[in-house]
Amino acid sequence: MYIPLPKENPFEFCFLVQNLDFKVMVNKKLFMQYLHRVPYHLVDTIAVTGPMKLSLISFQAPGMQPVECPNSVYPVPFFTNIPNGFYPSKSIMISGTVLPNAKRFHINLRCGIDVAFHLNVGIDENVLVRNTQINSSWGHEERSQPEKMPFLQGQSFTVSILCEDHCFKVVVDGKPLCEYLHRLMNLQAINRLEVAGDVQLTNVET
Ligand code: GAL
Repeated sequence: MYIPLPKENPFEFCFLVQNLDFKVMVNKKLFMQYLHRVPYHLVDTIAVTGPMKLSLISFQAPGMQPVECPNSVYPVPFFTNIPNGFYPSKSIMISGTVLPNAKRFHINLRCGIDVAFHLNVGIDENVLVRNTQINSSWGHEERSQPEKMPFLQGQSFTVSILCEDHCFKVVVDGKPLCEYLHRLMNLQAINRLEVAGDVQLTNVET
């Protein structure tokens, strides 16, 4: 099978895992569909070999879209819409680097003027604060002081926020960090993400 990849030119392969097959896109055009021969949930490794230079491998969860930014530079404070808001199983992902002298940063999931979920990361005080703001008033704080703070000055991180029936689950670098019971129940109206503070963003998917 001929794959049109001229020498020296950048290329992109995208493998979409479907129920019956892998749909393979080359440079955003459908190239082939490959029927599964082993159950796809057993596939856990990706290997790339041969005479080529690899610049990026990324994984995308179902229903998430990268938020495009000019030159991949995300302004901070950063605001973006979450198309269709939240629903159980919906997750978003935020990757970034904590600034070298960072004191704090926060992530807000907004529902109109209200903040359904606020996660404030106090790097200097080693504290995580979660709260909800309704009509400009904060509710009661949920606070914790993690034994091992996953956000460290100068270090990169990936936060996923997964919406479940009763709560948001926050996972950092693959490890569960905290759960926050929903206080605003109209999940689909929680449709705006905001990140602010001492952080640089490298990738956002909503
Ligand atoms: C305040 C802080 C706000 C917000 C709030 C959460 O002390 O100034 O930014 O984090 O706590 O309860």
